[in-house]
Amino acid sequence: MENIQKRIECSQVRWDKGECRKKFGIEKEDHICLWIADSDLPLDEKINKYLENRIKYPYYGYTTLDKKFEESFLDYHKKHRNQTIKMEEVFFTPGTVVSFSHVVRAISKKQDGIAMCTPIYGPLFQVSEALQRRVEKIPLLNKNERFYLDFEKIEETIKQKDIKIFVIVNPLNPSGRVWERSELEKLVEICKKYNVYIISDEIHCDLVYEGKAFTSMLEFEKTYNRFIVLTSVNKTFNIAGVQVGWGIVKNKEILELINIKLDQSHIKCVPNIFAQALMEGCFKEGDDFIKESMNLYKTNYDWLKNYLNENANELTVMEMDSTFLPYICFKRTGISLEEMKDVLWNKAKVIVQFNDDFVDGGCTYFRINVATDFKIIQEAAKRICNVINEYKGMEK
Ligand SMILES: Cc1ncc(COP(=O)(O)O)c(C=O)c1O
Repeated sequence: MENIQKRIECSQVRWDKGECRKKFGIEKEDHICLWIADSDLPLDEKINKYLENRIKYPYYGYTTLDKKFEESFLDYHKKHRNQTIKMEEVFFTPGTVVSFSHVVRAISKKQDGIAMCTPIYGPLFQVSEALQRRVEKIPLLNKNERFYLDFEKIEETIKQKDIKIFVIVNPLNPSGRVWERSELEKLVEICKKYNVYIISDEIHCDLVYEGKAFTSMLEFEKTYNRFIVLTSVNKTFNIAGVQVGWGIVKNKEILELINIKLDQSHIKCVPNIFAQALMEGCFKEGDDFIKESMNLYKTNYDWLKNYLNENANELTVMEMDSTFLPYICFKRTGISLEEMKDVLWNKAKVIVQFNDDFVDGGCTYFRINVATDFKIIQEAAKRICNVINEYKGMEK
């Protein structure tokens, strides 16, 4: 709870009363806030030191790319992601969604078709619509509560709806599904056949659990290079508030188009001074933090899954290959989406997000953020089970 109290004092969105009221229409009071995708874990002291060291120099004028930042940035991609990239293949923005918006504008025009599989991180859909692109949703196949790409539907949609861009989120939020190399190979093959651009949102790629292997779109460069990888370390190190994202583009023509759009918004930029200092710390000293946070997320997830199995077995928790955002099916409770919002938000006083936030209509899922203290997950799980069982009892 100490972490949470500190986060409240720092105006962090997840625990902010005003934000919760605005988004969910509820007073926070004693609510447990397990919604927006950041972590309650404070960043490592040895990483934070890099920021502290930077503010010893009170020079905050226009900045360029710091050499130490640049080296650590490239090293991190090599060491942690096994990616060999060059600085000239990278563009920085204030975040992944900002990157996405600029890329979409660079490679398509109004009324062009964009296809994406659902569920998906909502802002990718909303931004595409706001840019007046024709968005085609392709529901993922759900086999025994595991998602799969529907290749037949993907190809049919690309062909019939004249699709220009295909958006893939890997690992997927919600659920944490990591796409297998063979699945991506098939996807690339289809996109290549129809000359479709691929935008691959890989922001969660550092948080993949043992036994699962992450494959970046970058690995298909030799087969097909009409792709843009969007990434950051916001999720890895819980630094979304620092507001830095970047894209990696191997195709020079595509990068030129993106740079034109970035110039038009005057955001052809380098990460700000504080972000560069902090991220250098993350890149150089981040191993322990990654290990510690992934251990916590996995422990919380495993415990939650077992507890729900034993105490509310109509809830089915999807397997979590990565990250900290499991997706939970509540269809078998017989409780509708609107009722379940009331049950969890107002009766259990646990703030989670539901499938409609993930462009996933007509079904019954909630996403719970397990990146918090173990005790908080225990309390939330207890509340969820109690109210669901109580509610079902009342219905009989
Ligand atoms: C898949 C995905 N993409 C993008 C974002 C947002 O990233 P940023 O804060 O860098 O815009 C999130 C945040 O949860 C996400 O899950």
